[in-house]
Formats: sequence, structure tokens, C-alpha cells
Amino acid sequence: MHDVVQNYYGKELQSTNDLKTSACCDISNMPEWLKPLLANIHDEVLNRYYGCGLVCPALLEGCRILDLGSGSGRDVYALAQLVGESGHVVGVDMTDEQLAVAKQHQAYHVEKFGYDNVTFLHGYIEKLDELDLEANSFDIIVSNCVINLSPDKASVMASVQRLLKPGGEFYFSDVYADRRIPKHLIDDPVLYGECLSGALYWKDFNRLSRDAGFLDVRLVEDRPLEITDPALAAKIGDIQFFSATYR
Ligand SMILES: C[S@@+](CC[C@H](N)C(=O)[O-])C[C@H]1O[C@@H](n2cnc3c(N)ncnc32)[C@H](O)[C@@H]1O
Repeated sequence: MHDVVQNYYGKELQSTNDLKTSACCDISNMPEWLKPLLANIHDEVLNRYYGCGLVCPALLEGCRILDLGSGSGRDVYALAQLVGESGHVVGVDMTDEQLAVAKQHQAYHVEKFGYDNVTFLHGYIEKLDELDLEANSFDIIVSNCVINLSPDKASVMASVQRLLKPGGEFYFSDVYADRRIPKHLIDDPVLYGECLSGALYWKDFNRLSRDAGFLDVRLVEDRPLEITDPALAAKIGDIQFFSATYR
């Protein structure tokens, strides 16, 4: 599955406009306070945004944040402004092309913000123990439309537990389904790459979270997804998908 996803985000998609669902945030729903932060972010980073929610909790100044599947870095660069000079944001992604865009514009953002407080690492979110990340070292871990793409979601949740400081928070947006997805749809590379067929049945997500030790999972917001591509909609049939942000 890693190859399928790397190919999708590294080669198939060139910009947000190539997505075949309404998973990416509707600009009209964007909070006013976010707009000036996004205005400081390079266009190429913004054009390759593939998230499905808003992973910016309040009051982040001075925090250490980890972004799982940081892509071209939009959320990293937005969070970098919220944590300020005394904070730090680490982005991890496995796709070279996505990381290259994020890193290529690092100097641009240092100049815009007046400080350098981000690090991008190449890695797999199921194998975070292979990276030089200290246990109990992050105040917040975020992830935006990535866990559905992981073939081993339980490992991801276990690593989040290990890396969060006591009292830290996992704040993430992802895609969920109203039922378990049949195997022939999981095997479809476009449905998987579009963040649909790797999505968990939401009740399985609740179980997985509890098993990983997240005993008090709270829904921040959710919305139904529209499958805008007719061919994909026909394959999906009447399965309903929604994006949800949890903390
Ligand atoms: C839907 S995009 C979201 C990117 C970013 N969070 C955003 O909001 O623009 C999914 C990203 O997750 C990365 N990804 C998917 N599975 C991964 C894994 N197992 N380990 C690391 N990165 C992964 C992909 O390379 C891609 O950049």
C-alpha cells in the first residue's frame, strides 16, 4: 500500500484541483483567523494541500508539534506561526516529491516569519521509532487526512501514545465510512489514494482508539464527503463517507 500511496501523492496528483472528492476544506468555511496565516505560505505549498479538516487547536504558543503525513507542509507552516519562535513543528512524510516541495520553501518561510522553527523528516508513520524522536516529547500531534492511508493504523496510534507528553493531545482530521469497506474497493489504487477505501468504519475507529489508550476521544467537527467523480461514485455505491476532526 505504501507504493500505491507514494505514487498517488508523488506522481498522479499535481494539485488540490486533481482530487476527485470534496475532502479538501471548503474555503468559505475557513475561519477568519486562519486567513492571514495562510497568506504567508508559499503558493506551491498551498496548491498541494490535500487535507480534509482543520488541525489547528487553540493556544499553541511555545508548543512542540508533530504532523504525521505532513505532505507539502501547509499545516506545518500554519502551525509554525501559531507556536511562534519558542515552539517547534516537525513534519513526517514518506513521499519524496511532497517533502521536496515542503523543504524547497523552508527559507521563504524563515524570511516571512522571522524565525526557523520547522523540521521535515522522511519516514513512515507506522515506523516512527526509526526516527530520532524522543518519547514523551510532543505537546500536540496532528494529522490531516493520512491515517486512512496507513496499512497499520494500530501502530500509528501506539506511536502517538509513546511520543506525546503526559497530558498531550492528538488532534487529527480523517475520513471515515458508515460501514466496513469491501476488499475489492480497498484494492483499487485510486479509491485508496483518494482517502476513501482505506477509511475505517467509524465504530472500528472508536474501538481502535480505546485499545490504543485514548479513552476520551471527542469529535470537534464533521461533514459528509461528496464523491465528485462519477466513475468513482459508481464504484463506491451507497457507502457514505465523512471527514471528521477528533481530539
Ligand atoms: C492526503 S495527503 C495529506 C497531506 C497533508 N497532511 C495535507 O493536509 O496536505 C496524504 C499524505 O500522507 C503521506 N502518507 C500517507 N501514508 C503515509 C505513511 N504511511 N507514512 C508517512 N506518510 C504517509 C502521503 O505521502 C501524503 O503526503
